[in-house]
Amino acid sequence: MSIKELLKDKLSGEELRLVRRSFEIIGNIVIVEIPDEIYHQKDLIVEAILKKHKNVKTILRKTGEVEGVYRVARYEIIYGNETETVVKEHGCRFLVDPTKVYYSVKLSGERERIARLVRDGERVLVIFAGVGPYAIVIARLANPAEVVGIELNPVAVEYFRKNVELNKVEEKVKVYEGDVKEVLPKLEGEFDRILMPSPYIAENFISAVRGKIRRGGIVHYYTFAGKEEEKEILPKRVVRLFREQGIDVELEHLRQCGHYAPYVYRYVLDLRVKS
Ligand SMILES: C[S@@+](CC[C@H](N)C(=O)[O-])C[C@H]1O[C@@H](n2cnc3c(N)ncnc32)[C@H](O)[C@@H]1O
Repeated sequence: MSIKELLKDKLSGEELRLVRRSFEIIGNIVIVEIPDEIYHQKDLIVEAILKKHKNVKTILRKTGEVEGVYRVARYEIIYGNETETVVKEHGCRFLVDPTKVYYSVKLSGERERIARLVRDGERVLVIFAGVGPYAIVIARLANPAEVVGIELNPVAVEYFRKNVELNKVEEKVKVYEGDVKEVLPKLEGEFDRILMPSPYIAENFISAVRGKIRRGGIVHYYTFAGKEEEKEILPKRVVRLFREQGIDVELEHLRQCGHYAPYVYRYVLDLRVKS
């Protein structure tokens, strides 16, 4: 039974219309959006969620969109008090606190897709690594020589290090704390594959990966765009952005991997560096 159905006899028709159909579940934390107009009914909404999801420890009401350099949304605790949880994904476990770090369950399919592309012995770089989900899923599902992750948010770095231990990938995954523009120039050698999973700022970091991706290597570039741009405008624009920074790439694959705002979608472009 859906939350709306559970609330059918308790809220007015108008209030029921404002109850959001979907919510996000991160480990045993549920994230809901409750419009101000029905905030006075939050206890009934909490009760309905608890009836439907037995193992919920905390319910967070989203009060602000993902924002800032660390890409964290704002929340209000409306049930429980613990904001740290463990999420299971592709046989991995990730310790996260969504009130302090970025983590999205919705990207787990994309992480698996990338991991399946990684060949034995590859050296992989994940910039904007967050709490480590891409790096760790790649290390566990594929057989890379090394996966390097760079992350700026000190709290995310702390979780990233804990997650490396939790998933026993210390031998493969190296965690660096700091700004990609400062850390990356100090890393030696080239990578076979570079992931740029922050659509908001990836464009400003194309120059940073120059000289770090080998010829014939792959860059996974994430960006936001409208549906109408998908077929022609988007690939041309991104290839041009790379060329302007002295990296000659061709599009190997493009896919929509999420939804950001009305008419704005998240895309990933797999770009092959020309040899
Ligand atoms: C959209 S989140 C993606 C996190 C992770 N890739 C994931 O999917 O869970 C972007 C991340 O980039 C980090 N970040 C922002 N600017 C950065 C920079 N200049 N250098 C390194 N990391 C940065 C943020 O702190 C945030 O954790």
